[in-house]
Amino acid sequence: MSYAQGDDFEEMWTSLAPLGRAPDGSYQRLAWSDAELSCRDWFRRQARLRNMLLDEDRNGNLWAWWGEPGAGAIVTGSHLDSVPGGGGFDGPLGVVSAFAAVDRLARRYGQPPKPLAVVDFADEEGGRFGVACAGSRLMTGQVDPCALLARTDRSGVTLAEAMTAAGFDPSRCGADPGRVSKIAAFVELHIEQGRTLDHLGAPVGVAAAVWPHGRWRFDFTGQADHAGTTRIVDRRDPLIPAAHLILDARAQAEAAEALATVGRVEVNPGATNAVASRASVWLDARAPSAETVRNLVESIRVASVQRCSHHRVALVASEESWSDGASFPAALQERLVASVRAVLGDVPRLTTGAGHDAAVLAAQVPTAMLFVRNPTGVSHDRAESASMQDCLRGVDALSAVLAALLDDAGGLSDVPAPAADRAGSPSAVATR
Ligand code: GLV
Ligand code: MN
Ligand code: MN
Repeated sequence: MSYAQGDDFEEMWTSLAPLGRAPDGSYQRLAWSDAELSCRDWFRRQARLRNMLLDEDRNGNLWAWWGEPGAGAIVTGSHLDSVPGGGGFDGPLGVVSAFAAVDRLARRYGQPPKPLAVVDFADEEGGRFGVACAGSRLMTGQVDPCALLARTDRSGVTLAEAMTAAGFDPSRCGADPGRVSKIAAFVELHIEQGRTLDHLGAPVGVAAAVWPHGRWRFDFTGQADHAGTTRIVDRRDPLIPAAHLILDARAQAEAAEALATVGRVEVNPGATNAVASRASVWLDARAPSAETVRNLVESIRVASVQRCSHHRVALVASEESWSDGASFPAALQERLVASVRAVLGDVPRLTTGAGHDAAVLAAQVPTAMLFVRNPTGVSHDRAESASMQDCLRGVDALSAVLAALLDDAGGLSDVPAPAADRAGSPSAVATR
């Protein structure tokens, strides 16, 4: 079936915008929730409009193919899920721009010179089950499917149950090397999650590297008791070492020139007039090198063990998610810079502390990223933004990059194999 032009960028943006949007303008598109399933339906509709072949892989990632799926494919896209209370651009901008770019390429080429796919990676944020980039990590064999499928959300629903409820068979989940081997290059366009482009006056940037990062859970268990009758010295209050951990994480991260964030705390039973019995604290830590992240988290854990012993509180610490950093192949970066420069002028290179499916794929596939200016610099919040003019410049940039890759008869032969290229860690500063 021949390609049919779909909705233009603004129409796509307008039709996607209401899905999962809360009255305050923030987004709640948690993986496999009704809101995110409606975004997946939106993706299917966009594929159908264009006569693209829709292909749901064994890990729940959605692919829309221009041309027959096959070896040497150029792939672009991002994700449609959000963090709790997220913004509208983180993820969707890359998917909408991908469809808009394919429309332009179809007008230019008529027939695809190589297979090209738009992808929506499942559960990038890990906002429900705690593991970042679940769909791309399952596909590339970087996470154990059994352990991941058994993880629960805040209501105790497992990922396997959530998939089943959505009509997806979780027993299919697992590494998909055949699919990965067909990808000649993956390019993800993403909203910038900082203000570097805004400061530089540039609408679009090229990613140089992504910092390694991870998520840890600290469970503090003490003894619940009466707030009015329990002497301070007799208390085993888990919130006291939990509070110290939050402050200590920040202080130690500052000293290590790293980032550490506690954005989620749960306290049980959560009564105003009772000492808590348990407190759980989730820590996100990031730095230019994996060693710095690991040393930082270990040092925070050791300090917390000492506090816990002083307060007679038990501590269990566990790693929930780990993401290797990535340095994107220099030759591919050069190609992006040249393609974007030809349509938009000078283009800066940025290193980011934010995680992306592109960084996961970079371990196995030549991978690159484009960033679009975000004037507020804010992300994971409704204040995340980009002007329509910059979004369309992003489509210009992505179309130029994809055209260069489609025209490349050399088959990316100058781009080194990912394993060789990934030695070393990002060294530039994060974008914010
Ligand atoms: C996702 O955006 C992350 O960086 O955690
Ligand atoms: Mn995000
Ligand atoms: Mn994202």
